[in-house]
Amino acid sequence: MNEVVKTGVIGFPIDHSVSPIIHNHWIDEYQVNTDSYKKIGVEPKLFEEEVLRLKESGALGLNVTVPLKELAFSFSEEQTEIAKQTGAVNTLTFKNGKVYGDNTDVIGFQRSLDQETVENNIANKKCLVLGAGGAARAVVCALSNLNGEVFICNRTLEKALKIQQNLRVQPEVIEQQNLGTVVGEISFIVNTTSLGLGNTENTMVDFTQVNPQVFVYDLIYNPKLTKFLSAAKERNFGYQNGMKMLIEQAAESFKIWHDIHPKISDELMNLLEEL
Ligand code: ATR
Repeated sequence: MNEVVKTGVIGFPIDHSVSPIIHNHWIDEYQVNTDSYKKIGVEPKLFEEEVLRLKESGALGLNVTVPLKELAFSFSEEQTEIAKQTGAVNTLTFKNGKVYGDNTDVIGFQRSLDQETVENNIANKKCLVLGAGGAARAVVCALSNLNGEVFICNRTLEKALKIQQNLRVQPEVIEQQNLGTVVGEISFIVNTTSLGLGNTENTMVDFTQVNPQVFVYDLIYNPKLTKFLSAAKERNFGYQNGMKMLIEQAAESFKIWHDIHPKISDELMNLLEEL
């Protein structure tokens, strides 16, 4: 018999996800009257069937992760403005028989940044986004909300061009072989590609050409210090990994489903530090 799921995260693969640790910590802390938050692994071709099954069985909502965020956008019946802006959905909510789509990655990314970084490296500065998947869409929108001038570069040029065409904010697309011509003017670099997972190299940017005032952000949180961030650290650049964004987007999803804005306590941070 299938397990009852009230909330959870759906993706493929899903084993690596730490979202259950975060949500289950808050479910316990706030004594939310629901079952624990589960991991659901499902291939893209079975996504709709599985989501409908969960909805019919009484689920409240789901987080959606790689590679299903764009599918979740087209599957949801109504989307928030922010989800429409990104064309990607990371939070589905089942209410009044309908499927609602939201994107909490945008606010999660914005809230993960220090005010100083926003002022010194993003607002009215040139920001470079590496990658053109679902996460890149959220980051492009967030940087643009913060008044950054956004450039995007991806291995597959067509996908970067598609973001430029689809989003209301229109980042400038840079071909990978031309990165060297702009990289010296960039104040903020963010990696949204999967390069760095499993300790793979990310050599998209030549750090010898980068302005030393740059801030380098990697959305990857496991490992905590990717080779990309490690190279930034060695050069004394400001840097940050994706853990704070992960927690902030989770907090926003928790608020949508349970109407509680959860606290990001030291206890929770310690739990995640131990991973
Ligand atoms: P997400 O939703 O998390 O953004 P995704 O949609 O699977 O995930 O996107 C993964 C990103 O990592 C893409 O930009 C992908 O580049 P392509 O569009 O060219 O596939 C990028 N990526 C993955 N492996 C890569 C590699 N070996 N070299 C360069 N980019 C890579």
